[in-house]
Formats: sequence, structure tokens, C-alpha cells
Amino acid sequence: MEIKITKTACPKEKPDSSTLGFGKIFTDHMFIMDYSRELGWHDARIVPFENLSIHPASTVLHYGSEIFEGLKAYRRADGKVQLFRPMENIRRMNTSADRLCLPQIPEDIAFEMLTAFVACEKDWTPSAPGTSLYLRPFMFGNDETLGVHAVNNARFMIIASPVGSYYKEGINPVKIMIEDEDVRAVRGGTGYAKCGGNYAASNRAGERAEEKGYSQVLWLDGVERKYIEEVGAMNVMFKIGDEIVTPKLTGSILPGITRKSCIEMLIKEGYKVSERLLSVDELSAAMRDGSLVEAWGCGTAAVVSPIGELCYKDHKYTVNEGKIGAVTQHLYDTLTGIQWGKTEDTFGWTYVID
Ligand code: PLP
Ligand code: COI
Repeated sequence: MEIKITKTACPKEKPDSSTLGFGKIFTDHMFIMDYSRELGWHDARIVPFENLSIHPASTVLHYGSEIFEGLKAYRRADGKVQLFRPMENIRRMNTSADRLCLPQIPEDIAFEMLTAFVACEKDWTPSAPGTSLYLRPFMFGNDETLGVHAVNNARFMIIASPVGSYYKEGINPVKIMIEDEDVRAVRGGTGYAKCGGNYAASNRAGERAEEKGYSQVLWLDGVERKYIEEVGAMNVMFKIGDEIVTPKLTGSILPGITRKSCIEMLIKEGYKVSERLLSVDELSAAMRDGSLVEAWGCGTAAVVSPIGELCYKDHKYTVNEGKIGAVTQHLYDTLTGIQWGKTEDTFGWTYVID
């Protein structure tokens, strides 16, 4: 499919790497492609980054027809820029689109659009340690009518933001609160899809946790409020004794690409990894008797983030004396080594942009 490129007449100055934070600065261009039932996907274009004009009745504004993805472009030591498992994001986006009744994008077309956009913006990929160019593909329904139904019109876009670490703590352990009031998702709902509504419904608990000094909440399952699910923006893993436990994908958890990669790396190295149900009671008992040795979250934005404190029903538990554990550090080093091209990618996970 042809991509029309209109370059900006006023390129912005690239930011100083020390000021990046997460998702506050955007590059010079954005990608747009439109969909209608009659024409299918059409009018693929890269245009200067600017505000959108949107019909006030647009489906997304009223009924939340929106899905998104998150992946990063990394600057390697040799100056080249590479993506990490981009096809996984493309496939998950189509799974999310299916759940939200948004149109599918054929994988080869989505890949072509993504890589063309990254090639256009690759100079924005920072090179300081721990920095990258965060890519945010997203799709929304934009029928200009208030009827509730699967959409006839949609727009797919990609924007990019040079980023540093997601948490202000960086690689230092974060404090997480186990939420026992609100729930994020239920089986049969949209938990496994990456849709904006999941995050909107999470904010109330997130705010309450932040007020108490916690970075994010750890969700319990929505039916029994008994089993550990995931954190606001990352999946979770626990080292209990010599077993590494991560909640199994029951339909209400986002199937994280970092989670999948960590599992594959750990299994290859001979660790005992279990994807299973883990009750909050089992976790609390492991915290009390000291068999919980390490806890960490994993996600594209969060990378591998050690958890130094967990709070459940006002009981505070310190994990590994509030320090990063050996497996967490090892995972962080191996994963980021592959992502930034410092370690050989024996899995074939990276894709270099020309
Ligand atoms: N869970 C949630 C709710 C997330 O928002 C994310 C971030 O994308 C993840 C898990 C981790 O997914 P991934 O590793 O694909 O980024
Ligand atoms: C990601 O890690 O890519 C995410 O989407 C998490 C988030 C910032 C919502």
C-alpha cells in the first residue's frame, strides 16, 4: 500500500535525554490510515504531528471504541535502530480489534506501516542508557452517529515519544498496593485486550494507591477477588522458593510480550517457571514465612521492575529487604541486553530498521 509522506516544515529540537520521563514529548510526524466498510483501509499517510479534528459524535468519544499498542525502538551501540518483537504487537492489536469490533489490519500491512513510520522518525531514538523511542499505535472508531453498534469507520494511527524510565524509581524497587475493592477485568470482558477503557476503569484505584505512596495497584481477579492478576501497566512474577510463578492467562489478564519473553528466557536457562493461579492468601503466606524471595513486574514501558514492597489490607510486606533480587537483575540485564543490541539475540526477537 502506498504511504504518502508530508514532512514538517519546522522540525523540533531533539530533547536532552535527562529530561525525557515517559510520554511527554512527541516526534515531528504521525502516521494515519483510515478505514471504511466500503473502501477498507486506505489513505495511509505520514504527516506533521498536530492536533486532530474529530466529529463531536465520533464513536470513540461516547462508547470508548479504542485499542492501542506499545512497543519501543532501541538505539544500538553501532547507531542502528531496532524493534523488539513487533509482530507480537501487531497480532495482539488484531486480537484487541476483534474484541472491540474494530477492523483487522492485515499483518503485512501493519508491519509495513509501522516500519515505514519508524524509519521516518528514527533520528528521534535517543542513545543515553535506558532511553528509547516509545511507539504508540492506536485505533479508534469514528462513525459520526450516536447509535451503539460495531463501527463502519475507523482510524489507525502511530505516534512516537522519546522516553526514559516509566517509573520515577527507574530500576529501583517500586511499592505496589494489592487492590481489594475495584476490579480491572472479568473473564468474558476486555481484560485480555489492550483497550483504553480498561485503563480508564483502573484510575480510581490507582489514585487511591498513589495517595498512600504506592506506584500502582496489583489487581485481583474480578469474580472471587482471590487470585493475583497483574499490575496497572505490567504483568507480575514472583520467586517463591525455587519456583517462578506468574498468573496464568485466564482471559482477564493482558498477555504481555515482555511476560512471554521473560518466561521463554527463564525456561531456556533451566528455571522452574509456572503459569498458574496464585491466590493472594498463598502470596501473603509466602511473604510471612519468607519463601517469597523476589517479586517483579514486566512490561514494555516498565521493562523489568523490581517490587520492593507489597501492601494488602493495610499489612505491609517488604520483599527482598526492598532491594532488587538476583533473578530480577539477571532478567533485566538479559532482556535489555537483547533490546539495545548489547547481547546476541539468539531468539531472533529483534528487527533492525534500515
Ligand atoms: N499489563 C498491562 C495492563 C499493561 O498495560 C502492559 C503494558 O503494555 C502489560 C501488562 C505488559 O505488556 P507488554 O509486555 O506487552 O508491554
Ligand atoms: C506499555 O508498556 O506499552 C503500556 O502500554 C503500559 C502503559 C503505559 C499503559
